[in-house]
Amino acid sequence: MATKRAIEKRKDEHLDLCVNEDVEPRAQSTLLECVHLVHRSLPELALEEIDLSTRLCGTILRAPIVITGMTGGTERADAINRDLVSLAEKHGLAFGVGSQRISSEGAARAASFQLRVIAKTALVLGNIGVTQAAKLGTDGVEALMDSIGADALCVHLNPAQELIQPGGDRDFRGGEAAIANLAARLGERLVVKETGAGISPRTARRLFDLGVRTIDVSGAGGTSWTRVETLRTEGEARALGELFSAWGTPTAACVAGIGGGGLAVIGSGGVRNGLDVAKVIALGARAAGMALPFLRAHQNGGIVAAETLVRSTLDALRTAMLLTGSRDIAALQASKPVITGALREWIEGLA
Ligand SMILES: Cc1cc2nc3c(=O)[nH]c(=O)nc-3n(C[C@H](O)[C@H](O)[C@H](O)COP(=O)(O)O)c2cc1C
Repeated sequence: MATKRAIEKRKDEHLDLCVNEDVEPRAQSTLLECVHLVHRSLPELALEEIDLSTRLCGTILRAPIVITGMTGGTERADAINRDLVSLAEKHGLAFGVGSQRISSEGAARAASFQLRVIAKTALVLGNIGVTQAAKLGTDGVEALMDSIGADALCVHLNPAQELIQPGGDRDFRGGEAAIANLAARLGERLVVKETGAGISPRTARRLFDLGVRTIDVSGAGGTSWTRVETLRTEGEARALGELFSAWGTPTAACVAGIGGGGLAVIGSGGVRNGLDVAKVIALGARAAGMALPFLRAHQNGGIVAAETLVRSTLDALRTAMLLTGSRDIAALQASKPVITGALREWIEGLA
């Protein structure tokens, strides 16, 4: 078992790399540039009547944004999580904590996970990796969720990151059974998420068969965890990491390829502004997820900068909704964007 200092050091290193380094490889795009919302010159709507609310994990969000899981359990995480969850509470967004593995290993500071004092109504999502979930068992995972008063749980999948991380997991068997057991217990309170390499339509169908009803695609084109781990390695491991830095299914291809089909989809991975949010919803997502932009805004300008990001994102989303004649999220989902270029090929290839 890693010591508290070793885990805390690794987590701080991850935060520093994400804030300061180039962790979004230019060689891989989200392909959201191939999604064109169609302008409506006669929208017959007033900006004030646009309804941003959406339903996720049995809860109504006032706006379709999830601040997806990044951190927790360390001194630095306290301020990040408390500030970001307070914004989720104020603006009716959802908030995810980072992996609770650190708690399950008894090495966490509790404060950054004790968010219920602030988040009286916001949807709070717990987080654990699928390999740890399999080891902890359904009761153990539920206890971890209860320990922070989470409304729902994200189980994250990150095989690409693990394979590049020195000392990372190398055996991914048993994940399906763990997910099926959790789905049977938690129902729509279970979210299965990737961490930047994308959930393909095929994996999404498998998850649906296992009983999962909500997924966060976390596609390629945003933060790359193969890239982050590459930056922490040297020699042969570094060469392997470089080769896989742009690995994954682009965000737009994941969301468009999955196309709903009984799954509530969170479109994430490289979503950087309100127009990107509008595009993933127009491709079929129920909400959008963002991680890196909130971390960077917070680390560079505190809660004020993070709140500016919330406001500008919602302003741009409302603008795109009015200009597509979409009164609410369901209308935006049905708005039929034009899809061009590489995304069209990806969708055909994945079908
Ligand atoms: C600093 C940082 C830490 C992260 N830690 C976790 C984690 O513990 N668990 C998890 O499921 N995802 C984690 N992620 C992945 C994000 O939730 C998200 O899926 C991914 O970064 C893609 O979104 P983005 O391009 O907006 O950053 C982390 C992301 C960042 C930037």
